[in-house]
Amino acid sequence: MVVGLLVVLAQLKGSSSTHLSTDFYKKSCPKVFSIVKSVVKSAVMEEKRMGASLLRLHFHDCFVQGCDASILLDDTSTFKGEKTAGGNNNSVRGYEVIDHIKLKVEEACPGIVSCADIVTIAARDSVALLGGPKWKVKVGRRDSKTASLEAANSGVLPSPASNLSTLIQKFKDQGLSPTDLVALSGTPPARSKNSENFDNAYFKNLKAKKGLLHSDQALYSGGSTDWLVELYSRCHEAFHKDLVAAMIKMGNISPLTGLNGEIRKNCRRPN
Ligand code: HEM
Ligand SMILES: *[C@@H]1O[C@H](CO)[C@@H](O)[C@H](O)[C@H]1NC(C)=O
Ligand SMILES: *[C@@H]1O[C@H](CO)[C@@H](O)[C@H](O)[C@H]1NC(C)=O
Repeated sequence: MVVGLLVVLAQLKGSSSTHLSTDFYKKSCPKVFSIVKSVVKSAVMEEKRMGASLLRLHFHDCFVQGCDASILLDDTSTFKGEKTAGGNNNSVRGYEVIDHIKLKVEEACPGIVSCADIVTIAARDSVALLGGPKWKVKVGRRDSKTASLEAANSGVLPSPASNLSTLIQKFKDQGLSPTDLVALSGTPPARSKNSENFDNAYFKNLKAKKGLLHSDQALYSGGSTDWLVELYSRCHEAFHKDLVAAMIKMGNISPLTGLNGEIRKNCRRPN
């Protein structure tokens, strides 16, 4: 009875990051990590910006109904997904790289690896390729059967005009702390004016009051996160340590697991 109730509760909750593990594909698709890494590597060698783009794709996927590859679903005549939402239209990119990875992964292990995991692994590999920290990524996410333009436009994605309290709240809504907010914000190479590496140039720029977006400078404007900007600007290791923790937390936002969702055959449409 108690066990039955727990099962029902788990199903009602519908998702849990506790089902994710580093060895989820150990037997079913051990090659997935090397395949993702090699495709990401060649894409980044072809165009360095792609590393940043794949990271942002993961962020925008996870903030809208969890890390479930919902962002990858193409619009059809009867369906509108997240791709044309405010923060995404003409801005989120890297969809072709994900398609390429999926093709290769399907060749190696058909029907096994989710698009949501591919996006997560690709983001992890991008950070490492751009000189950022490395970590073991947990997998086992499944793909959504649907997506919602309304959800993507509902204000869950932060806007460049957001002030600090709004940014903190939007991250809190996703289970992320102010520390996660500040550490993750230091990743876009374009905004640190150093498109080379994941160093702490972003935080040094904020201290010099040269933040690119309003939402960047908000992190260092006399508020509660100033000390984190100070810390990361002085200590590259502290930035990397907190970034790893924040990336893992972001990748754990409401995954579909168990019998929820599906493993899409084509990342652009439900099966
Ligand atoms: C905190 C609030 C945030 C705001 C308001 C924001 C907003 C933006 C905007 C307006 C751009 C430029 C998009 C374009 O050029 O089309 C951008 C780029 C980017 N953002 Fe954010 N962002 C935020 C947080 C984050 C976080 C948490 C991450 C990653 C973990 C991230 C990763 C990136 C990356 C990698 C790029 C460059 C993408 C590329 O060049 O393709 N951002 N962001
Ligand atoms: C998205 O971008 C396309 C191409 O630039 C444009 O035609 C369309 O109106 C945009 N959609 C929205 C909802 O902004
Ligand atoms: C931050 O922005 C929100 C939404 O625009 C607004 O309601 C709030 O008053 C602002 N807070 C501060 C401290 O400026």
